[in-house]
Amino acid sequence: MDFARLIREVPDFPKPGIRFKDFSPLLADGEAFAGAVAAMAAPWHGSGLRVVVGIEARGFILGAAVARELGVGFVPVRKPGKLPGAVHEVSYALEYGQDRLQVQADAVPAGASVLLVDDVLATGGTLAAAASLVDGIGARLAGAAVLVELAALGGRGRWRRSEPLLATLSY
Ligand code: PRP
Ligand code: MG
Repeated sequence: MDFARLIREVPDFPKPGIRFKDFSPLLADGEAFAGAVAAMAAPWHGSGLRVVVGIEARGFILGAAVARELGVGFVPVRKPGKLPGAVHEVSYALEYGQDRLQVQADAVPAGASVLLVDDVLATGGTLAAAASLVDGIGARLAGAAVLVELAALGGRGRWRRSEPLLATLSY
């Protein structure tokens, strides 16, 4: 299944100089969506995961689907002010801008194994921040999976961790 052909590049979005990888056409194609999710999930079958943690917003789409593919739960990492109760928070630098992420403090049982999922690895700030959130709530990070790695932006270099960071597609 050649799902990569359904990821289109949009120049100068959302800001000049940014080449946006738009996976909307992939999501809209049932076969491509299923193929991409299966490819992301494949290395993690039987690895003892408890939950997939997906990062708002595009990480929700792929993360929830990967969780269903693996038969495990899903936990959202969200932008500030969306989650009730006690939360852990981290600030991070984005490819374009600055943001914060939160997760509910009791979202995952202590020591439970977690897979992080997002759509794109760009500068790596988002994924590294989400990994520190997983650490902060006492879960055990098994690794991270992204659909697309923008290798030229060097995000992998910010993943200063021993856990695997797997990209299905690299540009
Ligand atoms: C985008 C993308 C990744 C992140 C990658 O999220 O979905 O989460 O940037 O960039 P980084 O590796 O430089 O941190 P963004 O918050 O822009 O948008 P979204 O809410 O649509 O996911
Ligand atoms: Mg995102």
